[in-house]
Amino acid sequence: MTQKLDLIVLGVSVGVALGILIATLVFLGLRWYKKHARLRRCANERSFGSLPIRMNGIDANTDLSAVIGSPVTHKPDHTQRSTQPSRWGYQSKDRPASFSGVIRYSYKDIQKATQNFTTTLGEGSFGPVYKAVVPTGEIVAVKVLASNSRQGEKEFQTEVSLLGRLHHRNLVNLVGYSVDKGQHMLIYEFMCNGSLANLLYNQKEQSLSWEERLQIAMDIAHGIEYLHEGAVPSVIHRDLKSANILLDQSMRAKVADFGLSKEEVFDDQNSSLKGTYGYIDPVYISTNQFTKKSDIYSLGVIIFELITAIHPQQNLIEYVNLAGMSSDGIDEILDKELLGQCNIEEVRELARIGHKCLHKFQRKRPSIVEVSQAVVKMKHRQLARNNTMSFASQDISLVVSKIEDQQVELSELTSREFK
Ligand SMILES: Nc1ncnc2c1ncn2[C@@H]1O[C@H](COP(=O)(O)OP(=O)(O)OP(=O)(O)O)[C@@H](O)[C@H]1O
Ligand SMILES: [Mg+2]
Repeated sequence: MTQKLDLIVLGVSVGVALGILIATLVFLGLRWYKKHARLRRCANERSFGSLPIRMNGIDANTDLSAVIGSPVTHKPDHTQRSTQPSRWGYQSKDRPASFSGVIRYSYKDIQKATQNFTTTLGEGSFGPVYKAVVPTGEIVAVKVLASNSRQGEKEFQTEVSLLGRLHHRNLVNLVGYSVDKGQHMLIYEFMCNGSLANLLYNQKEQSLSWEERLQIAMDIAHGIEYLHEGAVPSVIHRDLKSANILLDQSMRAKVADFGLSKEEVFDDQNSSLKGTYGYIDPVYISTNQFTKKSDIYSLGVIIFELITAIHPQQNLIEYVNLAGMSSDGIDEILDKELLGQCNIEEVRELARIGHKCLHKFQRKRPSIVEVSQAVVKMKHRQLARNNTMSFASQDISLVVSKIEDQQVELSELTSREFK
């Protein structure tokens, strides 16, 4: 009887223990599931916020028309807005909204900041560009999208979505945008030294030094390196050219206009090439496939623009091909502003990098990382040599002044002896 009772007690205890164990396991399982679901959600949000997902030039994950196409009077996104500074001195109720960290402004504010669109900086295929001063004193460049261009609207949406997520010291920063009164505008940081094309072809009285040109090559390579290798998924520029390289007050270069996928560069066989005549990779023309190596080709063209100051639409590539036939061929087409003002070995070395970028087979062209590394090495050597030279000249001037001192002492001594 006692044994039977013991068995019952044991059975009940084991049952209770098993029940507790199962309940604990279920509880822990539920907690684990909830935690992982939260982590997954966070990871998705993070990747959505920082990754430009590009499909035919448009962010595939974002309904841009919903965000950009709404009139400016629509209720702004308060969560984003609260983290943004008020650049235009707004009252909190009508402070601009932001999209991917890029602030949205009204037409009226931009009209005021551009003095009723009178401060023209230039005009490209995208539309006119104006200089604007915002109430905080910050100077910006406003690019107005031509209102009759359907392609432009697509470019505009692509640019806002891409630039909002891409930030690098060698990329021209998008600080705002506007969709109001049927106008689409992009607001960029102002680059006070304008475009590299302007400096090379229109400003002959104030020519770029060789040191500046090498620095510019390095900055451009770093900007593209970020687009090709830093951004996830990577971004192909598609319209690299000296007009899209802008310079700041210290002559540091930044790459502009990525995300603006242009149409209509007409060719004999092909009517829908993107890019600018003179910079387009011949492989892209024959295959209609744009790759990172097509950007590398355009970079090669810019490198030779830096060396020769010959415009790509004035047979630059023909001259470069002829120059490539001998090791010192580049000397013949060197920008005359650089004659006697540069280290010719460095010029030849940069030309060798440029030639590799222009190789007719894409696989034989270097990656942007390889170009960057090669140019950085050159820049380091240049800095080291210039420092050594300035140390050497300091040493020489020290020796000269010591000799002068000794001469003075000597003449004083002799004059004293004669007295
Ligand atoms: N952020 C900026 N700061 C200063 N000037 C700028 C800025 N963006 C553009 N510009 C100037 O405005 C002019 C027009 O630029 P835009 O990019 O519209 O045309 P583009 O680069 O010449 O040609 P494309 O339309 O083919 O890109 C250029 O002269 C350029 O130097
Ligand atoms: Mg441009």
